[in-house]
Amino acid sequence: MARHDYKFRPDPTWEEAFFKPSAPIPMPKPLDDWSKIDIFDSILAMSRNPIIATTEASMTEENVISTALGQAVIIVTSPSAIKHVFIENASKYGMHPVRQAILKPALKDGLISAEGDTWRRARRALSPIFTPRHIGEFPEPMRRVTETMLPDVFPDNQIIEADEAFLKLAYGVLSETLFSGEIDHNLDEALRDIAIFMDALGKPDPLDLLEAPKWMPRLTKLRGRKAIKRMRSQVRTVSNSRRKQIENGADVPQDFLTLLLTTKTDDGENLSDEQVEDQIMTFIGAGHETTSRALTWLSYLLSQDISVRERFEAEIDALDTQRPANEWVNDIPFAMACFNEGMRLYPPAPFISRIALKDDEIDGKTVPKGATVLINLWSLHRHTAHWDRPDAFDPDRFMGERAKSIGRFDFLPFGVGHRVCIGQRFALHEAAVIMAVVFKNTRLHWIDGQDHPWPLMRITTRPEESLRLRVERR
Ligand code: HEM
Repeated sequence: MARHDYKFRPDPTWEEAFFKPSAPIPMPKPLDDWSKIDIFDSILAMSRNPIIATTEASMTEENVISTALGQAVIIVTSPSAIKHVFIENASKYGMHPVRQAILKPALKDGLISAEGDTWRRARRALSPIFTPRHIGEFPEPMRRVTETMLPDVFPDNQIIEADEAFLKLAYGVLSETLFSGEIDHNLDEALRDIAIFMDALGKPDPLDLLEAPKWMPRLTKLRGRKAIKRMRSQVRTVSNSRRKQIENGADVPQDFLTLLLTTKTDDGENLSDEQVEDQIMTFIGAGHETTSRALTWLSYLLSQDISVRERFEAEIDALDTQRPANEWVNDIPFAMACFNEGMRLYPPAPFISRIALKDDEIDGKTVPKGATVLINLWSLHRHTAHWDRPDAFDPDRFMGERAKSIGRFDFLPFGVGHRVCIGQRFALHEAAVIMAVVFKNTRLHWIDGQDHPWPLMRITTRPEESLRLRVERR
């Protein structure tokens, strides 16, 4: 049996009508059983691919409590539990120490890893940058970069690795909107460094899972540290030169870098060099791989469901590209529904974890101080209480009346509460522009005989092996 032929929840009532994308069979038993598994085996398994720890119960029952590595874990799935932890009682829950051990050394006080007052001040300083007015300036440069890169990234009649292609494109877009192309690096080298950096970020070191003291060297992170140092130094050079230009009153591009260098903290001060660097590293870490993974999974889904692809292409073909690019996100509702359905099935950032800072009660269940509270988006987005035919690729669920029945806490690819993704609007514009330019000009075909892509969870959900597709120029 090929790995993608999973027999979990077989349902002949819809399997003829909808495509059922590749997914592992969840563990039949609750995570409780992990406590009986040898601790080193479980650490090894978790650091290889945590998706294997997803249980059937987390997709069918409410708020599953279990233990992992000797600690209580509660996977919240009910709307009231999610609201309780992430909105109404958010101050009782902190960032998870394992996540912090992974992110903090690389991203320091960047928004995603900062906590307490440092986070509050940074979020207030950065929020004005992510307003519709500023973000609405970016789709035009996004479009220019995508059009320029297209022939090279999607060469006609060639077999490409779609994951690599979308990583390249998303980095091209991010680099243009961050620095207006002023950064002095070669694209392939930058991508290599980011890949090493993300690999180091995404794979928990066994010592991090054991919450070993910080002074113990994490051998798996050494290569990552060198790549981060190179990236930081490039960012510092371009940022110093831009700061001087601004001080001298020169005309400068209105990109993220200028916005960061001119935004004010609560005390009316500019961000320091270190703070600007941390935020840019964070935007790369949080914004590059996520969007490109979503586009990669979408291209897999479209390559399988030809009737959806035809509707998707018809809409993109009808798009009037003379209209400003910041309107496109509203002009292509079916393509955006496909994008959302892709993020439902393959959430780009699959885990949103917190730790209980005090004893608490969630939906009547006791949560001890120190317990891990987790939204596992893989489970939430396939939960039988929230979704009809959860395993089917059915973009129409995000259209019209059907979209209105999706609950506020059922679909959370960008998180929820005060730490919700600050880059959400940017990501949706970027997806709209890349989809419009790429799929107006190319069709990506499935290559018969290859295995369906297998989801691997790191910080993002990505195909374990490269997703190979054949490009046809349209
Ligand atoms: C499809 C694309 C994206 C997805 C699915 C995504 C997902 C997420 C999620 C789930 C969180 C919440 C994490 C938590 O609560 O622990 C988050 C936070 C964050 N994201 Fe995104 N993201 C995407 C794109 C972006 C982009 C393009 C940027 C920047 C340009 C960005 C910057 C951030 C930052 C800075 C945070 C931390 C916010 C805070 O803690 O205040 N993201 N993202």
